[in-house]
Amino acid sequence: MIFSNKLIAWYLDNKRILPWRETKDPYSIWLSEIILQQTRVAQGLPYFEAFKQAYPTVFDLANAQEDDVLLLWQGLGYYSRARNLHATAKKVAHELNGQFPTTYKELLTLKGVGEYTAAAIASIAYDEVVPVVDGNVFRVLARIYGITSDIATQRTKKEFQAVAATLISPQQPAIFNQAIMDFGAIQCTPKGTNCAPCPFITSCVAYQTNQVDKLPVKLSKVKVKNRYMDFLIFLDGNNHTLLEQRTQKDIWQNLYQFPVIDRFTDEAIDLEKQVYARYPATSMTQLTCLTEEVIIHQLSHQKLHLRFWMIQTEIIPGETTPWRDLNKFGFPIVIHNFIQSLTV
Ligand code: ADE
Repeated sequence: MIFSNKLIAWYLDNKRILPWRETKDPYSIWLSEIILQQTRVAQGLPYFEAFKQAYPTVFDLANAQEDDVLLLWQGLGYYSRARNLHATAKKVAHELNGQFPTTYKELLTLKGVGEYTAAAIASIAYDEVVPVVDGNVFRVLARIYGITSDIATQRTKKEFQAVAATLISPQQPAIFNQAIMDFGAIQCTPKGTNCAPCPFITSCVAYQTNQVDKLPVKLSKVKVKNRYMDFLIFLDGNNHTLLEQRTQKDIWQNLYQFPVIDRFTDEAIDLEKQVYARYPATSMTQLTCLTEEVIIHQLSHQKLHLRFWMIQTEIIPGETTPWRDLNKFGFPIVIHNFIQSLTV
């Protein structure tokens, strides 16, 4: 049996029932694919439901406030995805009459839509015969065909796209692409410890040569920088605090946070001195460290070492926010979780 038939047969028995699979609506398909970038289906599903409920159409999303979109995105990480999502919704709603582009090539012009996402939308919503290549596809093809190229390079991506283009079903590209992604997520998992029921077991090069745990090959590793952040939670007698929005092109762009003393070295600092230097008007009555142990938060390129400090003061050095209103702001998830731990 040819590859695509075998794969599709497996899919029809094993596929996940997902709301964006019940429709050809490009808005739902685009929304699901943006949410699923760097996110597992189980984690993305409740976000998809929440977005569809809050913004049933692309016009509703386009007309939303960016802060509300970021608040709904809270916890998914990679917040540039949410900002691009909003920008693309505005473009589709206001410049394209609410119509998503209908080809792979045109879809690529949308913000936040790269090769993978354009291929997914073009095939799933419009049945264009264009293969998706994501982490799942790398793994499935590297193992079945014994491809040992380093998947971190652009050249290898082209190699896999070429292989996938020879395998995709011209009659059923939407099903084929979703099948290969589900096959990678459910059967041909990173651990690769459940090969017995696999329909490709007799032809899989990795299985036959005992290399399942060696493939795919990923050589280039990203360099991770350490970053040290001391967050300052000012609190006055009325339970008001100070928030700021992160406006720079940096992690967590446009999200909210407490003021922070932020650096890339772990040299000891005199926190009290730094607070007075930055906020000379502060009348600090007490400075307390709220984190017994440093909180480690791993991002793709940075390892964050976080501490939270409470500064009790008569004078908040800036526009104040009542503590009870904090749930109206979109915070990075690690700050959100810390606030939760204080209030529950
Ligand atoms: N991951 C990203 N998009 C997906 C889809 N449409 N089906 C299964 N897994 C996915």
